[in-house]
Amino acid sequence: MCLTLCMKINGKNTPTVYTEGGSIVTLDQIALPERIEWVRLNDLNEVCDAIATMVVRGAPAIGAVGAFGLAQAISHLKALDWDVIGQNKQQLFETRPTAYDLEHGLEHVMAAIQHLDDLSEVQQRAQSAAQAYVDASAAACKAIGEHGAELIKDGCRILTHCNAGALATVDWGTALAPLRMAHAAGKKIFVYVDETRPRLQGARLTAWELHQEGIEHAIIADNAAGHFMYRGEVDLVITGADRVARNGDIANKIGTYEKAVVAKENGIPFYIAAPFSTIDFNCDSGADIPIEERTAEEVSSVHGVAVASPGSPVRNPAFDVTPAKYITGIITEKGIFKPEDLGSAP
Ligand code: MRU
Repeated sequence: MCLTLCMKINGKNTPTVYTEGGSIVTLDQIALPERIEWVRLNDLNEVCDAIATMVVRGAPAIGAVGAFGLAQAISHLKALDWDVIGQNKQQLFETRPTAYDLEHGLEHVMAAIQHLDDLSEVQQRAQSAAQAYVDASAAACKAIGEHGAELIKDGCRILTHCNAGALATVDWGTALAPLRMAHAAGKKIFVYVDETRPRLQGARLTAWELHQEGIEHAIIADNAAGHFMYRGEVDLVITGADRVARNGDIANKIGTYEKAVVAKENGIPFYIAAPFSTIDFNCDSGADIPIEERTAEEVSSVHGVAVASPGSPVRNPAFDVTPAKYITGIITEKGIFKPEDLGSAP
């Protein structure tokens, strides 16, 4: 579904995730920005591999592809077998542990079918539930854009971390949606884009999206963010989240925590943009959020070129937790909440 402002590629509005002829179609986020390549995911193993290797990445995007992936796996069944459906769901669930949207998307499809006993009805309902989930995800991010744009004044200089744009979601983005709305409304904005080591989602993907949209920006080294905040050159920080705990703590791309601490130290508002599909109300606090550790090679090399002392051990947590006390507000599709008010949100 492309409401009106889905991703712009070479000036053309382009949906980021959809199904066609039984395949799931999405942009290859490893090939970008060098090459614009679409991938067609045709079975469960291809979907799991695409999520695990980050061909598709970003919390709402993997929730959408996970939901479509489960419906696709069910469409391949020759007989109704709940054990197999359970195993398929588990295989998808295990691809990436931190982003709650994945679990949310899978559970949405399961809830639509688990009371049924006819294979073809299960297959139809699974597909329509997945499509409804993806459409709702796009609509939620659009609403995040509308609410968040109110925080952005003409001339605002915003810092963001990782990629929480259209690529990471269905069409709109979370952290980038308010920026796109503000820009579309004619406000002049400037975006500081953290490069986001080790996988450079900021330098490769966020900068590419902003360039496609014609939004003024500059890529900065991750360790330059404090410099610009201290010098008073950043008015607002907005990032996405991979999981929000009930107490308002959030997990997002590694490095988010230190940006939040430096923002607070410098009196700069720090906002999280995330749909309710990212909020895990069963998770009490950030301490309970599972943090994915990825391979050493992501840190010890860049684009396949070794950059580290060979043989030295590496640690590579993909996410960190930002405690609620550093977060000014959480921009959701239902409005902007103080982190401590999330639990009582309608
Ligand atoms: O490891 P990634 O690239 O999937 O991590 C993505 C992020 O941390 C994003 O900031 C987050 O998913 C919010 S996306 C809209």
